[in-house]
Amino acid sequence: MPTRHLSKDYPWVSSPPIISAPMSGFAGPALAYAVYKAGGIGFLGGLPDIEALRTALQNVTELVTGTRAPKPGHTLPIGLGALLFAQRLEDVVGLIAEFRPVAVWLFAAYESADFARWAEEIRKVSANTKIWIQIGSVRGAVQLAQSCKPDVLVLQGADAGGHGGEKGAGIISLIPETLLALQRLRLSGNMSIVAAGGIADGSGVAAALTLGADGIVMGTRFLAAEETTVHPLYRTAILETEDGGQTTVRAKLFDELAGPNIWPKAFDGRALIAQSYKDHIEGISIDEIRNFHAEAKRTDHLGFDQENRRAAIWAGTGVGLVREKAPAAEILTEVREAAKVALKRALSNLE
Ligand SMILES: Cc1cc2nc3c(=O)[nH]c(=O)nc-3n(C[C@H](O)[C@H](O)[C@H](O)COP(=O)(O)O)c2cc1C
Repeated sequence: MPTRHLSKDYPWVSSPPIISAPMSGFAGPALAYAVYKAGGIGFLGGLPDIEALRTALQNVTELVTGTRAPKPGHTLPIGLGALLFAQRLEDVVGLIAEFRPVAVWLFAAYESADFARWAEEIRKVSANTKIWIQIGSVRGAVQLAQSCKPDVLVLQGADAGGHGGEKGAGIISLIPETLLALQRLRLSGNMSIVAAGGIADGSGVAAALTLGADGIVMGTRFLAAEETTVHPLYRTAILETEDGGQTTVRAKLFDELAGPNIWPKAFDGRALIAQSYKDHIEGISIDEIRNFHAEAKRTDHLGFDQENRRAAIWAGTGVGLVREKAPAAEILTEVREAAKVALKRALSNLE
């Protein structure tokens, strides 16, 4: 079993540790800072535009320290997401050397060897930056534990919103099987395991803890946070959607809407079932679907409105548990307290 508790490396963290996912384009400085302030671990989403990413790092540095320039010798208590297939290692490493985020979350490499290269370069420039890697299979987790020795493995189940492995299991089997495999090969070491995918309330947090996770990632639930950068109609769609197993779907189509798919082959993404997907199932050509999508994107609603919902609205199967907009701090408090109640209730069933 993992031996290192997240509170050692992230001493401000309240229990149980809740992490906001580095949702590219959604998780900006305001969300990452709010989550940090409320005793969670906040991540900035990775951005291919390196100048925009530098600005985001300056802004979050200012929120934490009161000044935009990183303080010498200071570790920024905020994590940074990186999408390996879409970003240049040199660019990201330069920013890590400059801002020294407490953690870097690596995801979506073309080759698994890329993770080792990134981890090595990051460790060279910033020894205090912990390496987190998100992966969705037992085999992948074992390989990464061997090749990269990450500080944290984020085990992403198939219920997750946004991108993930096209093939995958839910965390209910993914986590315990991965833990067993790591244990068998004596690979657990100091590595922490955190759970991602479909967790949107306290009972999900409680369940993930009992599966053996040291911490819990939420993405979809934080789309309801006031601090998240999200179009109001996108958020309305999240708050109104119920029954995520029926109303969301994993598909590659969502990455084809704006042009050819640039994601590595093994990935697809989970989003709300909307008009573009229905057209796709009806056999309408990708060119036509793209034209409708481009038209919708030119409107004020950007294709997020109920009447003409053609843009991808990334969301996990837990979307039906996301009912109202709230400050991130309230979400954290509510989820942590509800997790404790759920765990006590479960224990009382054993008495
Ligand atoms: C809108 C959205 C955007 C996301 N963007 C990223 C990203 O840029 N990088 C990443 O590693 N994961 C991304 N993810 C996946 C999350 O890291 C995480 O695995 C997922 O949100 C967990 O499932 P949940 O949404 O059910 O909580 C995204 C998820 C969502 C919902």
